[in-house]
Amino acid sequence: MRVQVAIIGAGPSGLLLGQLLNRAGIETIVIENKSQDYVLGRIRAGVLEQGTVELLEQAGVGARVHAEGLVHHGIELCFGGARHRIDLNGLSGGKNVTVYGQTEVTRDLMNARQEAGATLIFCAEQVSVHGFDTAKPSVRYVKDGVQNEIHCDFIAGCDGFHGVCRQSVPTSAITTHERVYPFGWLGVLSDTPPVSDELIYARHERGFALCSMRSRSRSRYYIQCAVDEKLDTWSDQAFWDELRRRLDEKAADMLVTGPSIEKSIAPLRSFVAEPMRFGTLFLAGDAAHIVPPTGAKGLNLAASDVHYLSSAFIEFYESRKPGALDTYSNKSLRRVWMAERFSWWMTSLMHKFPDAGSFTENMQLAELEYLLGSEAASTALAENYVGLPF
Ligand code: FAD
Ligand code: PHB
Repeated sequence: MRVQVAIIGAGPSGLLLGQLLNRAGIETIVIENKSQDYVLGRIRAGVLEQGTVELLEQAGVGARVHAEGLVHHGIELCFGGARHRIDLNGLSGGKNVTVYGQTEVTRDLMNARQEAGATLIFCAEQVSVHGFDTAKPSVRYVKDGVQNEIHCDFIAGCDGFHGVCRQSVPTSAITTHERVYPFGWLGVLSDTPPVSDELIYARHERGFALCSMRSRSRSRYYIQCAVDEKLDTWSDQAFWDELRRRLDEKAADMLVTGPSIEKSIAPLRSFVAEPMRFGTLFLAGDAAHIVPPTGAKGLNLAASDVHYLSSAFIEFYESRKPGALDTYSNKSLRRVWMAERFSWWMTSLMHKFPDAGSFTENMQLAELEYLLGSEAASTALAENYVGLPF
């Protein structure tokens, strides 16, 4: 089989790239090693930047995010027992974010791909990439015991942090930058009404907490936990008790609890691999970079990579000029580093660092106070949170 672009991974970046290329008449295949149910069951991101929503519209899948997504004009920061609102809309010149789960983005894109009749392979085993230092790369995988080989012009590595694409690049051709944080996030999803209309990011002596949501009747909450915390030691009751302790009194009183429908622990990491192109292999999304979730940037960065990469492929097939493909890596990385900076900053500001002394804690508090008292500082937060332009 032959296609123009072979896409590895059916997460948000692979599916969105596939959809944008498909609409431009470029032939793709998407190859995923997990099942469709597994991919749809993974609870991850929940906040979309305006630019991401616009890209979904451009991909022809904007209807449901507009109908069901919750537009948020602000967020709240909670510390010292009180909540303070950051007016994202007012400070960013009228921009907003939309609360809409990654599972729903993925579902919309899978449905669109199915409707378009474009190939999407699930449960592919032994996926491997070959010849990407030449103009004739290929992808091999086993499906139902049968070996398949796809010949293509380009491979898009959209296979996440643990995927095969980045790992197939010789180590001498790639530079990585990494920071691993000494804590994780314990997340709970529950069919309970959100504690507040807007997201609450809480800094507390016991550790960070976040109150988020998926809809008006479904909440997503996180608490900072030890990096080696065992999930089965956290009963629902223990989670709710700990969350309540980290919120202000009013939020703690208002919190509606219920049985968890999902509970998981995510480690926190900052990671960038440079460059994002190796011959005819291009990396996008988590395959190339990871941010800690504090700034809600992971999925949105995947979307901006896909914007640059899809435009570059479209330009190449329209004009046969490789200019945009040549600048893809540098262009994406500029924005990646900005989001890395913001996510690292917000993580450093809001978490309890196990080895930090009173100096670090006082720096956090002074910075939070400055943030609220200075329009310049809160504007910097707002314009990064709603997303830098791409
Ligand atoms: P992924 O979503 O990881 O998709 C990659 C796909 O490739 C997967 O479907 C995977 O199964 C597939 N794949 C992997 N290896 C292979 C292979 N060898 N062959 C074929 N397919 C393969 N971001 C936020 O903004 N907020 C959050 O709260 C948040 N929480 C997160 C929690 C966790 C546990 C993780 C891991 C990430 C979280 N993120 C969050 C980040 C966000 O979800 C990611 O940035 C986003 O999923 C990136 O999309 P992607 O398509 O690049 O990668
Ligand atoms: C989420 O809803 O899962 C979420 C929201 C904001 C974040 C991280 C995660 O910063």
